[in-house]
Amino acid sequence: MMIRRFETADGRAVSDLIAHTLRTTNSKDYTEEYLENDIRHLQPGDILRRAESQHFYVAEEDGRIIGCGSIGPYWGKEDESSLFTIFVHPDFQRRGIGKSIIEVLEQDEYALRARRIEIPASITGLPFYLKMGYTYKGGKAEVDEEQLYRLEKFREPSPASRISQTDEQRQVVREMMDLILSRHSFRGTYTPEKVPQEDLRAILEAGLAAPSGCNKQTTSLVAVDDPILLRKVLSVIDPPIAQTAPAAICVLTRRINAYRDRCYAVQDYSAAIENMLLMIHAMGYASCWYEGHLTDVDRIGDKIAKVLQVPEEYELVCLLPVGIPEEAPKAPRKQPFEVRAWFNDEVPCFDVSSLKQSCSKS
Ligand SMILES: Cc1cc2nc3c(=O)[nH]c(=O)nc-3n(C[C@H](O)[C@H](O)[C@H](O)COP(=O)(O)O)c2cc1C
Repeated sequence: MMIRRFETADGRAVSDLIAHTLRTTNSKDYTEEYLENDIRHLQPGDILRRAESQHFYVAEEDGRIIGCGSIGPYWGKEDESSLFTIFVHPDFQRRGIGKSIIEVLEQDEYALRARRIEIPASITGLPFYLKMGYTYKGGKAEVDEEQLYRLEKFREPSPASRISQTDEQRQVVREMMDLILSRHSFRGTYTPEKVPQEDLRAILEAGLAAPSGCNKQTTSLVAVDDPILLRKVLSVIDPPIAQTAPAAICVLTRRINAYRDRCYAVQDYSAAIENMLLMIHAMGYASCWYEGHLTDVDRIGDKIAKVLQVPEEYELVCLLPVGIPEEAPKAPRKQPFEVRAWFNDEVPCFDVSSLKQSCSKS
């Protein structure tokens, strides 16, 4: 089972899932008339509209949508959010899927920025939400005129919001997160527009600012924007990559030890590369971490180093093209938060080999 963001094509499946769950699971607590009225307002078009204003997620198993949930601002408020549309198909209930959906929603940016999260809970869902740590809003343990309980949970302000007191600082934190989440590898065609050297310099500076083991600063960088030299560099790469890029940054490393026999060169240049990838993206350019092509047995990195007349003590390990992409980079599928990150003792016991992971470009 994986939880991913809703896509437009999911509208029908989500609507059907909700209708079936309401008619099956909720029928013990609500009249047919009540449920059919709800279902009328949860048609595919309604789901698509919700997904526009809320962050909508689906739980998927073997290509089938078996659960859903969404989060959005509570009446447009910045620091209060509300969970909506949480359903798990009757055949998949009591397997922890609802819990996983709530956990994903509680890690969404609408939750992280909120000090309070509300749930309009059905009578059917009430015990589950209470178990998830939600309590009656204002202590009122009664359904309202919509026959729903109003539940809420107060969140500890996140360290980020505690440190960043001002709206301006909170905005910076949000933009930073958006930047990180919207960076994707680009392997398509670049426009011929040149990258000004001041931009390349800023990217190099971001790379050099990265941490390095014992501050050994094992990473060095070469920006190539001279069209003739760049052509020479790109022409030794086989199979060809980044052929249309107007500039490229070559990452060099010196494999010197930080202490005793501990060499952190790989960690050092990886940190530098990520800094540069984020900077490249922040400036409106695209890139891709090309390393496999360079450090494989055919040692293309060595050939590029020769073209650039790099001294022997440096190893050329990576090339980052820099340029304006002709089309927006596509987001690869990533495993949901709760499959790869946990708090405290929540690390689940599962068969890691069941995770679909491969070296393919996803
Ligand atoms: C160490 C390392 C080596 C990589 N080498 C290549 C490569 O040779 N060719 C390539 O197309 N992408 C390469 N990538 C990019 C990954 O395929 C890419 O980061 C991954 O698919 C996730 O996509 P994202 O960058 O859009 O999040 C490399 C990434 C890393 C971290």
